[in-house]
Amino acid sequence: MKGVVLAGGLGTRLHPLTKITNKHLLPVYNRPMVTYPVECLVKAGVDDILVVTGGNHPGDFLRLLGNGRELGARTISYAYQEGEGGIAAALSLAENHAAGGPVCVVLGDNIIEKNIIAAAEDFRRQGKGAKILLKKVDDPQRFGVAVFEGDKVVSIVEKPVNPPSSYAVTGIYMYDFQVFDFIRTLTPSQRNELEITDVNNLYIRQGTLTWSELDGWWTDAGTFDSLLRASNLVRDGGANKV
Ligand code: G1P
Repeated sequence: MKGVVLAGGLGTRLHPLTKITNKHLLPVYNRPMVTYPVECLVKAGVDDILVVTGGNHPGDFLRLLGNGRELGARTISYAYQEGEGGIAAALSLAENHAAGGPVCVVLGDNIIEKNIIAAAEDFRRQGKGAKILLKKVDDPQRFGVAVFEGDKVVSIVEKPVNPPSSYAVTGIYMYDFQVFDFIRTLTPSQRNELEITDVNNLYIRQGTLTWSELDGWWTDAGTFDSLLRASNLVRDGGANKV
């Protein structure tokens, strides 16, 4: 399974910090943000990684990550996303990298306490379809939220005003190669992006999406509060623990 870290976008919620650098290069405690999702993949045995970046500072990713060896990757390659087309648009740039096989996608601003080793193993055994990781949160309206029937996820709603459950869809996704065909069928959402939630709903409709609950804390780092929270969590206990 190949890895993809999505680190594009303009990070407007973090202006003025993101006027002078890419959001994913901002510090989370003692390291640039993007190093955490890269390390998360490496620890799950996913060590051929594409970093999709964008904006005005793409060269800084190469300077920071190089060939990935320092973080334990076998190889890191880079793609460039123009503008802010959304997560699914960024992922579409990984089609060649995936080379017909499955991908594990981690959003560049998602940081976890523990690891995804078991989930990646489960998905390798699953062989097709998709797998998402859910986490119970206090503020589900900020995220994609799972709708359940029993213990089955029957749909995902993006940033609902009235959340149907407390289970947020984290920014860690595993997909088979169909994902690139699904992305081609998407149309832009109200915020004018190709939504990863729409991709997940296509897999749900196909009956091939599984989920598991992420163990340990999870945070994004795309707002001032979550960025601060991420730093504090990492300082207090470390991230990507095996
Ligand atoms: C994105 C996804 C959302 C998901 C979140 C996880 O939100 O659209 O479904 O829950 O990442 O971090 P965004 O950061 O684009 O607002």
